[in-house]
Amino acid sequence: MSKRVRKAIIPAAGLGTRFLPATKSQPKEMLPIVDKPTLQYIIEEAIQSGIEEILIVTGRSKKSIEDHFDRSVELELELEQKGKTEMLEMVQDISKMADIYYIRQKEPRGLGHAISCARSFIGNEPFAVLLGDDIVDSETPCLRQLMDAYEEYKTSILGVQKVAKEDTNKYGILDVKHIEGRVYKVRDMVEKPDIDKSPSNIAILGRYIIMPKIFDILENQAPGKGGEIQLTDALKTLATQEAIYAYDFKGKRYDVGDKLGFLQATVDFALKRDDLKDEFEEFLKKKGAELIDKDKSLALVK
Ligand code: UTP
Repeated sequence: MSKRVRKAIIPAAGLGTRFLPATKSQPKEMLPIVDKPTLQYIIEEAIQSGIEEILIVTGRSKKSIEDHFDRSVELELELEQKGKTEMLEMVQDISKMADIYYIRQKEPRGLGHAISCARSFIGNEPFAVLLGDDIVDSETPCLRQLMDAYEEYKTSILGVQKVAKEDTNKYGILDVKHIEGRVYKVRDMVEKPDIDKSPSNIAILGRYIIMPKIFDILENQAPGKGGEIQLTDALKTLATQEAIYAYDFKGKRYDVGDKLGFLQATVDFALKRDDLKDEFEEFLKKKGAELIDKDKSLALVK
C-alpha cells in the first residue's frame, strides 16, 4: 500500500544575495510580509494542508528562525503582566503550531544538497517540499492541491504555473504531456534554460511532492547550473526511473526572496487586512494619482 504524505521539508539555508544587505545577518525567510515572517505563512500552509512534521533546513545566521517558532518566556510574561491577552495568545499559538525540527546545511551548496540533508528525517516515505521564500495565496492551500493530486497518481507531483517566456531562465522548466485538467506528465526538465532553448513556459514554482528514491540520486548528483547541486537535475534523473507529474496549481505565487516580489506581496497582503485596508487603499490611490500626473507632465515635455 502506498504511503501518505506526512512530512515536509522547508529549505531556508540559502544566502539570499538578492536581498542584501537585509540578509547579511538575518535570513530572507524571516522578512515580514506586513507583520508576519514569510516562513510563518509557509508553515501555516503546510499545516492547513495536513502536514504533521516539518523539518526546516537552516544555515548561517538562522537562529532567529528557531527563536521565532520556540516559546519566548520573557515576552509571554511581559504580555501577561500588561494584560495584553490577544497578543499573548498569538505569540503562544506560534510556538504550538506543529512539530518543527531543524537541521543545518553546513554550506549552501544548492537546493538539491539542502534536500539531501533531510534524508534521515524523511526515511522511506513520500514527502513535501515548500521553498522558504515562496508564498502562495490561494483558496485551497497550494500544497493541499498537490497532495490531492498525489492521492490520485501516487507518485512525485511538481507544483507548476505558466510564466512569461522571457522569465523562463529564472526557473526549472518542464517539457510535458497534458494528461487531464490541471495535470501534466513530465517528459524532461531543465534548470534555468536560455530563453530561446526553453522547452516550454511551464515552471516549477516552489512546491513539490517527491518520492524518497530522490535521495539515492542526490547522493551522486554532480553540481549543475551555478555550481550548485540542483534539485531539478536530480528530478530529471528520477523522471527516467519512475513517472513524475506536474500540477498547475490555483493561486497567486510570490517570490518574496526577490525585491519586486516582496513588494508586490506586501501590497496585496496589506490590502486584505481589515486593520489596514482602508487607510492603505487611500494612500495607494493618492500615490497612483501622483504617478499618473507625473506621466502626463512628462508626456507634455516630450
Ligand atoms: P534560492 O535560490 O531562491 O535561494 O533558493 P538563495 O540562493 O538564497 O537566493 P539568492 O539568489 O542568493 O538571493 C530557494 C530556496 O532554497 C533554499 C533557500 O533558502 C530558499 O528558501 N536554499 C538554497 C537552501 O536551503 N540551500 C541552498 O544551498 C540554496
